[in-house]
Amino acid sequence: MSNSKKRFSHEMLERNVGLLIFFSILVVSFSGLVQIIPLFFQHSTTTPVEGVRPYEALHLVGRDVYIREGCVGCHSQQIRMLQSEVQRYGPYSIAAESMYDHPFLWGSKRTGPDLARVGQRYSDEWHRIHLRDPRAVVKESNMPAYPWLQRNSVEGADVQARMRALRMVGVPYTDEEIAAAPEQLKGKTEEDAIVAYLQGLGVGGRAAAAAAMEAGSH
Ligand code: HEC
Repeated sequence: MSNSKKRFSHEMLERNVGLLIFFSILVVSFSGLVQIIPLFFQHSTTTPVEGVRPYEALHLVGRDVYIREGCVGCHSQQIRMLQSEVQRYGPYSIAAESMYDHPFLWGSKRTGPDLARVGQRYSDEWHRIHLRDPRAVVKESNMPAYPWLQRNSVEGADVQARMRALRMVGVPYTDEEIAAAPEQLKGKTEEDAIVAYLQGLGVGGRAAAAAAMEAGSH
């Protein structure tokens, strides 16, 4: 450039790595916030829906087993708005369905099917056989077997502490529910707990999600 007057130009950005980094961060933050901020005000992401309840004690313990065993490494819990997914799994997931999930288990790896609506799709017995030996029900399955879950008891799990901690982040457990929790775990195994958890997945929110889909909102 022959013009010696220092004017702000794109060339300056490209030649000064500090400035380039600063403006890159500025642009990326701005475009991120443009997507995120509206979600704080959107009806569908801020309103609880009918049917979605906090996890009962046994389901909560089952969820912990699910996390410990790394099921999320192969299974997502988030049905996207694609036609193919909706046809395969059911109404796409809406935000309110994971409002009591801390942390949420949406996942991103799909070696196996999405599990967001697997609840009530199979019998408890099917799940037990499948968990002990996936190949017994799905011949070509490459899912690992989890035979030890049927042998591990969940009695004495720290479920009350869990519930109290969740209450601190907004899950509305009552004192009575917390007091009754250990009773729910009496005589139960990790397999019972994870099956209970799986059978509840996507059931409560299904009607609301179907209605949202019908209305074309998301
Ligand atoms: C290495 C990857 C992998 C891991 C880890 C894994 N799965 Fe799977 N899962 C699969 C695959 C693949 C299938 C499909 C074949 C089948 O049904 O076995 C599947 C199927 C399933 C199904 C049936 C879903 C349907 O709609 O038919 C359930 C339920 C399930 N897995 C639960 C679990 C649970 C619970 C865990 C953790 C204890 C787990 N999976 C861990 C790969 C995995």
